[in-house]
Formats: sequence, structure tokens, C-alpha cells
Amino acid sequence: MPESKQLESKQRDYAEIAKRSGVDLADVKPLSLEERIETLESELHRTDVPYPIAAAKREPYIEALRSGNPFRMGDFSGETVDLGKYACQQFYENYSFEEHLSWACLVAQQQKTKHQFACRQYQEGERLFEIRGGVIPDFYLLNARIYQQTAWQLAAVSEIIPAELFFTCHSRRFFPVTTFMRPLGTDYLEEPDIGHDVAGHVATFTIRAVADVMKNHGEARNMIYAERDAMIADAGEDAAAIEAIKTHADDLLMYAGRIYWFTVEFGLVMEDGEIRDFGAGILSSPGETVYSIGSPESNRILIDPSDDADLMRLANTDYLISEFQKTYFISESFDLLHSLTPERILDASKRAMSLPDYTWREIVPGDRVVNVGTVMTSPNEKYYRLMAGQKMDECLRRTAIKNLRMHRDGISDELLAQFRALPPVIPQEVMDWFCQND
Ligand SMILES: [Fe+2]
Repeated sequence: MPESKQLESKQRDYAEIAKRSGVDLADVKPLSLEERIETLESELHRTDVPYPIAAAKREPYIEALRSGNPFRMGDFSGETVDLGKYACQQFYENYSFEEHLSWACLVAQQQKTKHQFACRQYQEGERLFEIRGGVIPDFYLLNARIYQQTAWQLAAVSEIIPAELFFTCHSRRFFPVTTFMRPLGTDYLEEPDIGHDVAGHVATFTIRAVADVMKNHGEARNMIYAERDAMIADAGEDAAAIEAIKTHADDLLMYAGRIYWFTVEFGLVMEDGEIRDFGAGILSSPGETVYSIGSPESNRILIDPSDDADLMRLANTDYLISEFQKTYFISESFDLLHSLTPERILDASKRAMSLPDYTWREIVPGDRVVNVGTVMTSPNEKYYRLMAGQKMDECLRRTAIKNLRMHRDGISDELLAQFRALPPVIPQEVMDWFCQND
């Protein structure tokens, strides 16, 4: 096909996709550099905000944009973070029309579902940061707006980063954001992109309880690493011991990460007697936004995050990222999330590591069940399937093996007493089979 025909056909496709999403192609038009500088200048001078930007910081920030430097990381707070090989930049002028259109269509789709299912505070956050369709946000401007309202800032990263670095960023109120935009027409992605990091997360920074949970995970990471470093100093030259200490710290972060997952990423909340979404992982996917609240498939369980047993429920629940969640936890209120201090996150992570896990499909004794998902499995199902060599999802397999090993090696009664109800007894024939085969 000649080039002009190809172009014509592509434009027809764009027009069709835009129409389906309710996007006006005329709105997919990025500002010129002069317009971006002008907008940024007026934004930086705002004084009617909780965290006004210091006069000395304004001119170098504008100059960086004027000189054509790509955005790397906010520098309003005096804090920084070493992102190493994950450091990235937003080259704003390099986004193609198709990438801007992909953003516009995704945001338009998100708006329809967010309008119906996102909690009020989230929707207010979106208005504050002007997260709307049109074009991909310029991180210079977005970072300034976020800082002025919340003291959080953006740090551009090239891809998903290790949990340790992710939570280090959080401890200094940096949120790592990728600069990549998902292909046009994609609803859910496993890997984070701007559609998730910006259109999903940014509005949650204005929900004080959620921002505190994020910061507290950063503090919990610092506590874990302080203990780790002290133990390494005591271990001297023993390489195997040092390796074990490092693995232990990273395992602890994984358990802390589950609390983050079931709140910041995939949390629901009660609002005026209705279930509403606030998790960024949910709200960045229009499909999962509808599914999380309305689908009969998934479990929905009410929790009080200030209750230790409920917190342990989160820390001991394994999950997968490859598909929509199979269990959602609904916090009774945002206020209760304030109880997730760094100390409680750390304590729950340590205990969870030494206790059997739940799979993401189970309902367990003590759960306050709002919806029993059609994909719910019984606690022993995973053991029998493992023994029979049957196919099951990776979450069930991982959990079965972890729990069987724990039971084989012995779990202290004192730890088991921390379960709200004792975990179901593993059938003896499964245990016998496992001991012979593991
Ligand atoms: Fe996320």
C-alpha cells in the first residue's frame, strides 16, 4: 500500500478508536514548549497551597524545562534517591500521537468507571491534579502540582523496580513512575505504565490515610534494612550467613508488600454504606473497576485494619498479578488505615513469615464475608490437587508447598494462636505423601 494510503487508513483507525472511547481527536494536541513553560511558571508561584514552592527552587526548575532537559526527579523537598540503573527521564516531545491517543482513550474509559465506583476523595484528587484526557501529562507540571498539594514528588523509572528501592522512594515521599504508555486499546497490563502510575496512583496521594500507608511502608523498609545491616555487621566474614540475612530482609519486604497490595493497590472502602474503590491497581483498569465491586466471581471481605487479626489476614494472603484479583478487602473506613504504622507493618510481616499462608481464592474462619466468589476454593483443595498432580494457579501451588513444609517442620503453638481461628488440619494422607516426595 502506498505511504499516503497507509497514513489515511491509520487516521481512519484512530478516528474510529477515539469515537468508541468518546475522545475528540482535536483534544489530543500536546502544548508547545512555550505554552508548557508559561503554565509551569504560573503554577510554581501559587501560594494558596499546603506546600508552596520556595522562591529559590522555582527558576532552576523552569530553566531545566526551558533548556530542553527531560524530567528526571522532583527536587523541591531537599530529598533525593539514588535510582541506579532504574533512573529514567521523560522526553516529553518524543511521545507520538498514538501514545497521546492511547492515554486519552484510557483516561476516557477510566473516567466512566471511576465516576461510578471510585470513592469521593479519589475523585477530588483527580480534579486537583487535573488528571484528564487529551494528552499525556508533562511530569514537570504534574510533579509541581503534586508537591504543592501533598509534599510527594515523582521520580522517573525505566521499569518495575525492586521492592527495596520502591519503598526507599516512599520513605522520602517519592513515587516512582514509568514513562511508557501502554499500546492503544489495552485495558489491563501486568507491568506498570503511565496509565497505571499516573492515572491510577496520583489521585490517591491526596487521600491522607493512603499517603500515610505508603510513607509508613517506606519507614517499615528502613527498619527492616537497619536490622539487616546490624546483623550483617555482626556476621563478620561469614558469606553464607550474610546471604541468609539479606534473603530474610527481602522476604520480610515481600510480606509487607502484601499489606500494600491489598490496600494501596487493590483496596476498597466503605463510603456512606456503599463499597467504593480506592486502589490504584483497580482504578487504572476500567474492566477491574467494574469487576472489583460488581463481579460475582471474586470474594469481598470486610476488614478493620486496626484489628491485628485482620492485618494478619492481609499479610498472610498470597496473590497473583497476572489477572483480576480473586479476593478484595474492604476497609471499614479510611480512618482505620491510619493504624497501619511502620511498627505494625513490620510486626505483621515478621509474624506472617512464620505462619501458613492463605491463597487468593480462599475464605477462612473469621472472615466477614460480603461476597463469596464463584471461584472460591476450600482450604484443603490446594493440597489434594498438588498430590494428584493437577493443574492449578501458581498462587495455590506456592501456598500449598509453603504450608506443607511448615507443617512438616513444625509450627509453634504460640504462633498458631495468633490465627483468628486455627488453620484447617492438613489431611494425614497428604502430609505423608508430601514428606515422601518433597
Ligand atoms: Fe501500582
